[in-house]
This record gives sequence, structure tokens and C-alpha cells, in this order.
Amino acid sequence: MPVSADKSPLIEAVELVKTYVMGDQTVHALRGVSLTIAEGDFVAIMGASGSGKSTLMNILGCLDLPTSGQYRLAGEEVETMGQDQLASIRNRRIGFVFQQFNLLPRTSALENVELPMVYAGLNATQRRERGIKALQKVGLGERFLHTPAELSGGQQQRVAIARALVNDPQLILADEPTGALDSQTSEDIMRLLRDLNLQGMTVVLVTHEADIAAWARRKLVFKDGLIVEDVVQSNRRQTPTQQGGLPETALATTKSGSDPDCES
Ligand SMILES: Nc1ncnc2c1ncn2[C@@H]1O[C@H](COP(=O)(O)OP(=O)(O)O)[C@@H](O)[C@H]1O
Ligand SMILES: [Mg+2]
Repeated sequence: MPVSADKSPLIEAVELVKTYVMGDQTVHALRGVSLTIAEGDFVAIMGASGSGKSTLMNILGCLDLPTSGQYRLAGEEVETMGQDQLASIRNRRIGFVFQQFNLLPRTSALENVELPMVYAGLNATQRRERGIKALQKVGLGERFLHTPAELSGGQQQRVAIARALVNDPQLILADEPTGALDSQTSEDIMRLLRDLNLQGMTVVLVTHEADIAAWARRKLVFKDGLIVEDVVQSNRRQTPTQQGGLPETALATTKSGSDPDCES
């Protein structure tokens, strides 16, 4: 099925306000952000440092609650949840990818990927099976036992993406996933996220770089705690065949780097 706007929204945020009070200082990190993101969308968020991007990502990721405003994720009312419910919705619905990978050192790729499944209560056999599958999916099939120190930055980010995928989330939230990578490796990671999106995964990412944002279907720009631009990028990079249906080979192409370059 083509990704289209008639699906019910995965993310519905209304008038999100986040205010930090530190002593006699008040920081208005979000000043009333309303945002709807359809299931299957691919959104890039840009904006100057301090404009509120990470604050929004933390709220969308159910890591933090807004000071005021409503947030529904897949129809669930997040702003009324307690810590246990927030942990549960994160575990069920969201995969996180960070700039610094956040892998456990001295721990194999497979064990890193298995960790979210420990919290989800899967047994060792299930964890191993699904962990290996996730690593294969990101092109790291032969590197289960390597520790982060034995992997390149791009490979570590692939492990982090595999870890984000293992609980079968509906949403990937990536805060500057290519911020610590060189431009070629960044391309590989974006191709991987693009392929996951083509398989139906909703992807929201923050980036400082226009050529990274150019991979997304939709671009939001933040300024001073507000969205000042919200555009559909009709000439986005690596535009897939428009009519849904993910080719089985899409993920295989992530390793070869043989895709044609930017079409604009
Ligand atoms: N935990 C916090 N306590 C106090 N102020 C914060 C906190 N997190 C973010 N801020 C402030 O909120 C504003 C927005 O920050 P952030 O969302 O991290 O911006 P961005 O990710 O766009 O760089 C900044 O002024 C920042 O200093
Ligand atoms: Mg940030």
C-alpha cells in the first residue's frame, strides 16, 4: 500500500509547551508546537542550536512530559501517563537512535541489540534469534560478537539502529544520527533509514545538515521554540518508486552503495 495521508496519524501533538525553570531563570524551550505526523512519514527537523528540537524529540519519545499541551502517540494519551506507562509505551512503540550511538562498551553487538528485549521480557532464545535478524537487517550479519571498540562509527550506528528495531517499533526517533559520522558513512546510514521508511517505518530525525534533511519527505524548521517552516520535499533525495510496495532488494542495496545519487 502506498504511504498516504489517509492513514490515522501516528503522532498528534497540540500546543506543546515546555518551560524549564532554573532558579530565577525561565527557559521557554517549546512555545506551543502543534504537529501531526502520519504513520509511514519521514520527517526531518532542522533549526539552530537551542531552538527546541531535542526538547520536542524527548516529548515525542515519551522520555519527558510537556509543561502543557496534548500528545497522542498511536491514539494513546501520553501527557497523562506515569513513569511506568511511559516506559511501557517507549518499549512497545519507539526505537531511539542517538548521535553518540550510546552502545555499552565491552559488550558485543548482539548483546547490545538484545538489551531492549530483556526489558520486554523475551527469553534468551527469542532474544538471540531476533537480535541476529536485526543485525542482518542492518548489514552486520557477520559481526555479532564484535564490541563497539572493534567497529567503525558507521557500524556502531548500525548496531544502534538494530537495537532500535528489535522490539518492532512503529516509530524511529533519531536525534542527529549522522552528527558523529563522515559524509560517506552518513549517506549509508541515511540510505538505511530510508529503506526502513520504505518498509513502513515512521522516521523522525533531527539534523543540522541540509543534505541529510534532503532525504526526508517532509522538513520542519524550528526557531525559538516554534515551527516556522513545514514543507513537503517533492524532490527529496533517492526518491523511491512512488507506488508503495517495497522491493525485497531495498535493504540489500544498503551495503552496495550503488544507488544513483541525488536526483535534483
Ligand atoms: N533540562 C533542561 N534544563 C534547562 N534548560 C534546558 C533543558 N533542556 C533544554 N534546555 C534549554 O531549552 C532550550 C532548547 O534546548 P534543546 O531542545 O536542547 O535545543 P536544540 O536541540 O534545538 O539544540 C535551550 O535554551 C536549552 O538550553
Ligand atoms: Mg539538540
